[in-house]
Amino acid sequence: MTDQRPLLRVRDLTVGFTTAAGRVEVVKRLGFDLARGGALGIVGESGSGKSMTSLAIMGLLPKGAERTGSIELDGTELTTLRERQMQAVRGDRIAMVFQDPLSSLNPYYTVGTQIAEAYRAHRTGVTRRQARKVAIEAMERVHIKDAARRVDHYPHQFSGGMRQRVMIAMTLSMEPDLIIADEPTTALDVTVQAQILDLLAEIRRDTGAGLILITHDLAVVSEVADHIVVMREGDLVEQGTAEQVFSDPRADYTRMLLDAVPRIDDEIGLLRTTATEEPR
Ligand SMILES: Nc1ncnc2c1ncn2[C@@H]1O[C@H](COP(=O)(O)OP(=O)(O)O)[C@@H](O)[C@H]1O
Ligand SMILES: [Mg+2]
Repeated sequence: MTDQRPLLRVRDLTVGFTTAAGRVEVVKRLGFDLARGGALGIVGESGSGKSMTSLAIMGLLPKGAERTGSIELDGTELTTLRERQMQAVRGDRIAMVFQDPLSSLNPYYTVGTQIAEAYRAHRTGVTRRQARKVAIEAMERVHIKDAARRVDHYPHQFSGGMRQRVMIAMTLSMEPDLIIADEPTTALDVTVQAQILDLLAEIRRDTGAGLILITHDLAVVSEVADHIVVMREGDLVEQGTAEQVFSDPRADYTRMLLDAVPRIDDEIGLLRTTATEEPR
């Protein structure tokens, strides 16, 4: 019998803050499933509650946030775990890729040291030497050329796209069941964006890890996600298969987001224009 249980099951997830003006709910009774090995896109404009959703899943909400509802990972209820147990879940089972890799990397340590230490923190009895090997392998898997040398470089010696590859290498070395990528390409230019998205899709294929890809840009999820959740001001406005949401959106809001996606032809046109405009 195959395991029909979803990898992640979210029900009635609500995140609220008590402010001077009273209580505000920034995520409202959100519910969705992520199938094993599935890729879910969470889409919505800035402020719609996407990051609060991912932080709620990770147990990393900012101080003062109140979370209710249920989050089951592989049948384990996460919302009632103690902080120590949640730390183990974060290191072992769920890994996160953020928009700005510089804020998650320490400028004073080489990327190799950081990947290796993150790995060692969750594995007992791993030597520095073994962890370094894991770091190099992880960097090779995200197609960083010359990984055996680059492992000793510092974050500032990498471009934005390469730093994001380093972050993805770090998550890969943890062998998570679930990768949550929150706006992983927003800070990158269009061609590098496409490369990072290809990489995420490839990793998902090769490792069987589930992926939640969070973005304000529907174009970003179109290539990678098989299911889509559309959020607006904390509400789930629509969810369905990527095919259904793209070809037959139910909500006006989704249609508006779709209209904001430049047509592929336009983008190619734009790239051509830029490429042919030689400085005089
Ligand atoms: N500490 C906080 N106190 C009150 N409101 C907050 C706090 N942090 C975030 N918010 C609000 O929560 C809402 C959702 O934020 P967020 O999940 O970051 O949106 P998104 O990631 O979709 O852009 C926003 O309106 C934001 O202003
Ligand atoms: Mg966000």
